[in-house]
Amino acid sequence: MIATEQSGIAWVVLNRPDKRNAMSPTLNDEMVEVLDAVAVDDRSQVLVLTGAGNSFTAGMDLKEYFREVDALPPVQQEIRRRTAHLWQGPRLRGFPKPTIAMVNGYCFGGGFTPLVSCDIAVAAGDAMFGLSEVNWGIIPGGNVPQAIVHTMSLRDALYYGMTGETFDGRKAAEMRLVTEAVPAGRLRERVIEIAELLKAKNPTVVRGTKEAVRHIRSMGWTEAEDYINTKLAAAVNTDPEQGRARGLTQFLDEKSIKPGLQAYSRPAGESEGHGR
Ligand code: COA
Repeated sequence: MIATEQSGIAWVVLNRPDKRNAMSPTLNDEMVEVLDAVAVDDRSQVLVLTGAGNSFTAGMDLKEYFREVDALPPVQQEIRRRTAHLWQGPRLRGFPKPTIAMVNGYCFGGGFTPLVSCDIAVAAGDAMFGLSEVNWGIIPGGNVPQAIVHTMSLRDALYYGMTGETFDGRKAAEMRLVTEAVPAGRLRERVIEIAELLKAKNPTVVRGTKEAVRHIRSMGWTEAEDYINTKLAAAVNTDPEQGRARGLTQFLDEKSIKPGLQAYSRPAGESEGHGR
């Protein structure tokens, strides 16, 4: 694992290129630690998850995560495997900063969970995706079915889950599994552009928006309305830069912005990430 900070972006790199960044129990343990460290590190405002070499991740490690752990007693199996679900699911989905998956190559099987857990995903047009579980004899685990039905259409989830056929980054974008696909040579540049857009926004509001959008999917209309209103009030009350008041003043009194076209001007230092 490599985690570096650069101009407010935490680059978290799955770093087992000789194993196509397959996710072993050790990698999973490290990812929990890395995510927890980046979450509270004021130097970064956005997290980018990517892979070293020609792979985002080849999915769960068939040797270290499956075969070797299968040989352990049941309780030890549970302990050895639990960090996979922890980092790929709750830690990443609920990450307190915006997250971008930069899919630079292979993305197979269990790799779909961290992919979907990131808020935004940008893929190289020639990246290769596949729900390969069927090809080695298992039903997709690790909440992969949940991840795919949340992002792909039912038809696409069933087709690719049942056939294991591969598809490229362009097709992934067409299916909305990723936000967009760009030529491989522009991948990093495009991810930085999106990270810069996010960095310039009010982090309290960005965080509340992502939480609201994610959480209401499992709620009915009325519960969602109630939850959002509560969330909105909490964000207004806890926002250190009082964005709502600033936005209203700059539009209605000073007439210095049009919120439809640009964001309110934040207090000095905030957009450079010195405030939270
Ligand atoms: N688990 C464990 N090891 C893996 C792995 C995985 N998911 N994916 C790749 N590796 C290992 C290979 O065993 C090989 O190890 P070795 O050098 O010790 O023999 C090494 O990584 C390189 O893999 P290789 O298959 O030679 O690379 P490739 O570039 O020709 O093919 C893939 C890349 C991703 C297409 C191919 O490795 C593959 O199909 N991997 C399995 C993908 C999968 O089904 N994942 C789902 C898991 S839920």
